[in-house]
Parts: sequence; C-alpha cells; structure tokens
Amino acid sequence: MVIEIAGTGRAIPPERISNQDLAEQIDTSDEWIRSHTGIEARHIAPPHVSTSDLAVEAAWESLKFAVARAEVEEPGPEELARTLDLIVVGSTTQDYYGCPSTACLVQHRLGAQKAAAMDITAACSSFIYCLETAAALILADRRRKRALVIGAETLSRVANWNDRGTCVLFGDGAGAVLLEKRDYPEENSGGAGPGRSRGLLRTILGADGSGWEHLIIRRGGSREPWKSGETVDIPPHVEMNGHAVYNFAVKVITETMAQLMEEESLAIQDIARIVPHQANARIIQAAGKRLKIPEEKFYLNMGEYANTSAASIPIALDELNRSGQVQKGDLIITVGFGGGLTYGGNLIRW
Ligand code: COA
Repeated sequence: MVIEIAGTGRAIPPERISNQDLAEQIDTSDEWIRSHTGIEARHIAPPHVSTSDLAVEAAWESLKFAVARAEVEEPGPEELARTLDLIVVGSTTQDYYGCPSTACLVQHRLGAQKAAAMDITAACSSFIYCLETAAALILADRRRKRALVIGAETLSRVANWNDRGTCVLFGDGAGAVLLEKRDYPEENSGGAGPGRSRGLLRTILGADGSGWEHLIIRRGGSREPWKSGETVDIPPHVEMNGHAVYNFAVKVITETMAQLMEEESLAIQDIARIVPHQANARIIQAAGKRLKIPEEKFYLNMGEYANTSAASIPIALDELNRSGQVQKGDLIITVGFGGGLTYGGNLIRW
C-alpha cells in the first residue's frame, strides 16, 4: 500500500500588501525586507474571512483538481468529499481558541460526513507533521482510504503591526492536498531509490522544546490567561527571537535534508525539487550552501506570499503541481521549521 497525493489546491486572499505599502505605515523599507528575507509582498485576508474559510476554499480546489485530472472515480468534488475518511488541519491561527477544531468546521462545510477531523499545532512545521499523521492513520485501518491535509493561516490576526521585526514577515493563505491509499503490489518494495515505492516515502519529525520561548503567542492560554476587567492593549500576537530562530532553522533544515538523502541513499541529482517552508530566503540559501545544493533546486515563493506558516508548503506544492513543474515519478523533499521549536521533512515520490 502506498499513500499518494491525488490532488492539490490553494487559497490566497486577493488583497496584496507590498513592502512599499508597509513602509508607508511603519518604520521599514522595501530594501531592508527584501535583502533580509526575500519577501516582496504578502496577501491579507479581509476581516470577515477566517482561517477555516481559506481552508475550505483550498480544500475544494484540491478535490476539483483530483476530479478534473481523473485521479478519482467520483464525478464531482461534493461526491469526493463524502468519501473522505479524515481531515487534518495544521494551523497556529485556528478560528476558535481550543474548541471546536478548525478541521471540524471544514468537515461540516465540505459535507464530509464520514470524515474524522482534527487540528495539529506544530507552528510552521504543521503541514509536515499533518502529512505523516494522516498517512499513518489511513494506513492503520484497511477501511480508511482518503484524507484531506490542509495548512491554513490568518497570521495577519496575530501579527503585532507595530513591531517591524515580526509583522513584515507574515501573510495569510491556505493549501490542501488529497491523500489516497493505493495498492501497487509490484512497486511497494520499500526504500526510495529510483523506480521503487511511490507517494509519501519517508518523514522526519523533530522538536526542541527548550526553544519554546523563541517564537510564542504569550497571552491567552492557561499559563497567562486574560483576566476579567483587564484592558487589552494589543491582541494576542507573535513574539520572536529572530536570531535564535534563524540559527535553529539553518541547523535543522540542513540536518533534515542530509539525513533524508543519506538514509534513503539519494544524491541531490535524484531530487527534482526541494520545497522548503517559506520563511526567509537567506535561511534556505545558508542551508543550501552547507550541503552544496544548487539554489534552483529550491522552490521559493515567499517573495509573493511571505511566511504563511502551516500553509506555505502546500501552497508551494500546488503551484508546482498546477504549473507542471513536478511530474509523476519526481522525488520531492519538503523541509521546514517553526515555533515549538519544531522541524521536519517529507520525502515524496510525486
Ligand atoms: N525594517 C527595517 N529595519 C528593521 C526591521 C524592518 N522590518 N526589522 C528589524 N530591523 C532593524 C533592527 O531594529 C536592527 O536595527 P539596529 O541595528 O539599529 O538595532 C537591524 O534591523 C538588524 O536587526 P536584526 O534583528 O539583527 O536583523 P537580522 O539580520 O537578524 O534579520 C530577521 C532579522 C527577523 C529577518 C532574521 O533574524 C530572521 O529571519 N530570523 C528567523 C525568523 C523566522 O524565520 N521566523 C519564522 C519562523 S517559522
């Protein structure tokens, strides 16, 4: 049995805020943001649009894609939604605090009556965690076949728009992939070497909780709850130790890519594309340099969308897929890092 990606989709809010637009509001410049991060713009959801709205839009796109490409037998996306066994949403900006999960809201809106639904919070590594979790759960029971894995964020709601050190980095968006369990007996031989297994082949997941404070939304949880009568000067917002996150990121993405290639006996020429979490182009360049990976192997779109956390990898996968830049049989590595601190990577044969 293999777990393949049968469809991809994305949702990007139309409102585009360029670096120049931000520089008119806060003390920053297009030059600083570009040169320090590679970011040129971000898309921001309007006030009435929540994370689940973006997640649902991306989900429908992935289901429509699977139907249009005849990856499934169902005649339409609604019929396909009804066959889902599982919906997993990765997000740091869920619609509601703690309960209900955003995945339940998505399940309801899709009419996916038989799907189990849950959220996973691993900050910007969430999608990598979600993919492995969903794949493991559909493999664990022969009656389960399909899962929808979504990364969705409205980070504009937790950005401190007065802190130039963080607010310039983030954007809103969602990406989705439809996973399907398939039986290719002749190919299911394990290992990732050319011509071997297909679909999701291998995942590395990790965390270093000692860095919990380096990227944090401090207020509102059980440790520092809002108190009745308290005046809220700034809504819950991201605080970040940029240097610590930067150093952690370069280290863990370098190690994760190296480990995936070494343990699966792969050379960089075997990999068609590396899809990193789109936080900062400098982080990716530094890791690439350490492993002598040519820059063009990495797919980068943070220029347009900035850091959309859990959504950044599935948005990139959808762009690659729809533009034909990945083909069936290509080996892809995803790699990411984020608050927690967390990290991980997936090896996928498309
Ligand atoms: N515009 C203009 N100047 C800015 C600025 C902005 N948006 N943000 C910070 N600066 C200033 C600082 O105030 C500082 O000024 P000073 O020297 O006068 O004190 C100067 O630029 C350098 O700041 P520093 O924080 O040292 O910059 P940096 O080169 O480390 O880059 C980050 C900052 C945030 C881009 C970098 O640390 C980073 O990318 N970290 C990882 C962040 C990340 O990926 N987070 C998401 C994780 S999923």
